[in-house]
Amino acid sequence: MSSSTIESILQEKRTFPPSPEFSQNAKISSMEAYQQLYDRAAADPESFWEELAETELHWFQKWDTVLDWQPPVAQWFVGGKLNISYNCLDRHLTTWRKNKAALIWEGEPGDSRTLTYAQLHREVCQMANVLKQLGAQKGDRVGIYMPMIPEAAIAMLACARIGAVHSVVFGGFSADALRQRLQDGEVKLVITADGGWRKDNIVHLKDEVDKALVEGVPTVTNVLVVKRTGQDIHMEAGRDVWWHELQPTVSADCPAEPMDSEDLLFILYTSGSTGKPKGVVHTTGGYNLYTHVTTQWTFDLKDTDVYWCTADVGWITGHSYIVYGPLSNGATSLMYEGAPRPSNPGCFWDVVEKYGVTIFYTAPTAIRAFMKAGDQLPKARDLSSLRLLGTVGEPINPEAWMWYHQVIGGERCPIVDTWWQTETGGFMITPLPGATPTKPGSATRPFPGIIAEVVDLDGNPVGVNEGGYLTIKYPWPSMMRTVYGDFDRFRRSYWEHIPPKDGQYFYFAGDGARQDEDGYFWVMGRVDDVISVAGHRLGTMEIESALVSHPAVAEAAVVGKPDELKGEEVVAFVSLEGEYTPSEELAKELKKHVVEEIGAIARPGEIRFSDDLPKTRSGKIMRRLLRNLAAGEEITGDTSTLQDRSVLDKLRGGA
Ligand code: PRX
Repeated sequence: MSSSTIESILQEKRTFPPSPEFSQNAKISSMEAYQQLYDRAAADPESFWEELAETELHWFQKWDTVLDWQPPVAQWFVGGKLNISYNCLDRHLTTWRKNKAALIWEGEPGDSRTLTYAQLHREVCQMANVLKQLGAQKGDRVGIYMPMIPEAAIAMLACARIGAVHSVVFGGFSADALRQRLQDGEVKLVITADGGWRKDNIVHLKDEVDKALVEGVPTVTNVLVVKRTGQDIHMEAGRDVWWHELQPTVSADCPAEPMDSEDLLFILYTSGSTGKPKGVVHTTGGYNLYTHVTTQWTFDLKDTDVYWCTADVGWITGHSYIVYGPLSNGATSLMYEGAPRPSNPGCFWDVVEKYGVTIFYTAPTAIRAFMKAGDQLPKARDLSSLRLLGTVGEPINPEAWMWYHQVIGGERCPIVDTWWQTETGGFMITPLPGATPTKPGSATRPFPGIIAEVVDLDGNPVGVNEGGYLTIKYPWPSMMRTVYGDFDRFRRSYWEHIPPKDGQYFYFAGDGARQDEDGYFWVMGRVDDVISVAGHRLGTMEIESALVSHPAVAEAAVVGKPDELKGEEVVAFVSLEGEYTPSEELAKELKKHVVEEIGAIARPGEIRFSDDLPKTRSGKIMRRLLRNLAAGEEITGDTSTLQDRSVLDKLRGGA
C-alpha cells in the first residue's frame, strides 16, 4: 500500500448471474461473447468502431480517417458527414417504425402524449424552421431551459438538425446559474417554457429567463416560449415569441444539415468543487455512434421495449439515454415530467404499471428515497412488465442494490450499474445484462473498446483489490473534446493529474476505484472525498454503505474532519428511517456497526443525525459542504447547485 493509493475496505461477495431465460434472448448472451468483443476491440479499436459506424449509422459521406489521436485531442471519423437528428428520426420513417411510439410522455398532473417517429419528425422539422426564421445558423449556440416535456427533446433535435449547438441548462437551476451558462456559451437564442410541474408546484421558468436576461446576456436576440402551464408571464416585445403561434406558420419539411463528424453537437455544463462550471463539449459522429451502441448493448434493447430513464434532459443522462441513444436505435423512450411527491409518492410505479415499462433506469439517490418511502408503494402496483433495471450517478450501496433487485426487480431483472460521466458521453464500465454476473455495488467490467485501469499517481497499475485512481488509457468515440472556450482547463483538469508516461496518456476525471480478483471495478467515489485516517486513505462510499446496511439508516454521508492525532476523523451525517429517532444509544450502536462491518479504522468519531442531506440538483451528496460543517467552518465555494438551501440551515442549527 503506497501513499498514492486509496485503501479499500468494502467486502461484498454476493454474485448474481443473469437468468438463463434472459441470456437466451439477449444480444450478447455470455461472458465468452463479451470477452470476444472486448478482446477484438482492444486489439484493434479503430476497425472495431469503424465496422459499427458503417453498420449502425447513416452517413451522408464516409470518413477518410477513423481516428486522429494527438493527445489529448481525439478526432473520430474525420471527414465523415452525418446528422444525428437524421439518425434519430428520418431513417426510421422508411421502415415500419414510422408509426412506432418514439416518445411516450406523462405530465405530472396526469396529462399525457405519445409521439410516433413520424409525428416527432414533423415537430422537430417545424421547430428547426422556426429557429432558422429567428436567425439561428449552423454553429450558433442555443440555450434550452425547459421542463420535462416533449418539446425539450424536440428543441435538442431541432438544433442538431440545423447544426446549431445546444446548451441545455437544467430547469431547476436559478437565474444566476442560467445567466452564467448563457454568457459563457455566448448563446444567441433561448428556448424555454412558461413553466413546468415539479412536486405539485409550478416552476417559473420564463420568469427565471427574464431575470437572467435583465442583467444582460447581450448575445441573446430571441426567446422561444412553449406554453406548458398557462400561467401569466411577461413577453418582451421584439424578443419573446410563442412556439404555438409560430409552429403553424412554418413548413414541416426541413432537410437535415450534413454535419462534419467533428462539428460541435452540444455543450453541457458540469460543476466541479472549485471554479466556474465547465462547458463540456461533445461533437457529432463519435457521440452518435457511442451512445447508439451503448444503449443497444447495455439495455439489450428490443423493439418491444418501453424504456424509461428517469433523468432530466438537463443532465448528460438525459442527453445520451433519453434522447439520442434510444431514438437513434428506434426505441420507445418514456419521458416523465414529475418526481415522487407528497401527493403521490408512488407515482413512478404508477407510470411503470400504466405503460408496461420494461426497462427502468434511475439513480441511487432515488432508490434510497424509494426504500425510505416503504415497500408498500411498489408492492401495490403491478411491476411484472419490468425485465431490466439500471442505475447511474453515484456508487450504489449494496443494501440499496439488494432492495432494488428484490422489491423492484422481483429477483428476475438484471441490474446494470453504469459508471460514466458527463465528460465520457456514454457508459464506460457497465454490465452487459445477458452476459455479466453482477455483484451489488460494482459497475463490473469495461464496455468493449474501453481500456480502463486503476493506477497510482505515477501511472503504475495498483494490485488486485488495492484502491487507486480510475483512468482510461485509450480514446473512445464519445469522449469530450474540450472545455468550451478553455482548452487549457481541459488539459489541466483531465490529463495532467496522472502525468503521461512513455507516450501513454491517462484520462482521469476524479474517481477512486479498485479492481477485484475477477477484474470487476468498484468505484469508491470522488477522490476529493477521500478521508485520511491515521495514514489510511478511505473512500467515503464504503463507510456510507456500512451505515446504510443498518436497519435504522436511510441515508448516510461521511466526511473527514481535521484531527491532530489521526490526520482526519470520520464524521457521519445520517438520516433515519421513519420509525427511528435520534439518540445517544443509536449513535453508539451505529459506530459499533461500522466497526463490525469494516473495522476499527473506519469507526466514526461523531454521528450527526439529520432529516436531510445537502445534495446537488442531480441528487449527488455535496460532501464539500458537510466537510465545512464538520470542521465548524464557514461554507466555502459555490453553493448554486444545491437542491435545497434550507437543509444547510437545519444542519448548521443542529451542529
Ligand atoms: O463519481 C462518479 C459518479 O458520478 C460522476 C459523474 O457525474 P456526472 O458527470 O454528473 O454524470 C452522471 C451521469 C453519468 C462520476 O465521476 N458516478 C456516475 N455513475 C456512477 C458513479 N459512481 C459510481 N458508480 C456509478 N455507476
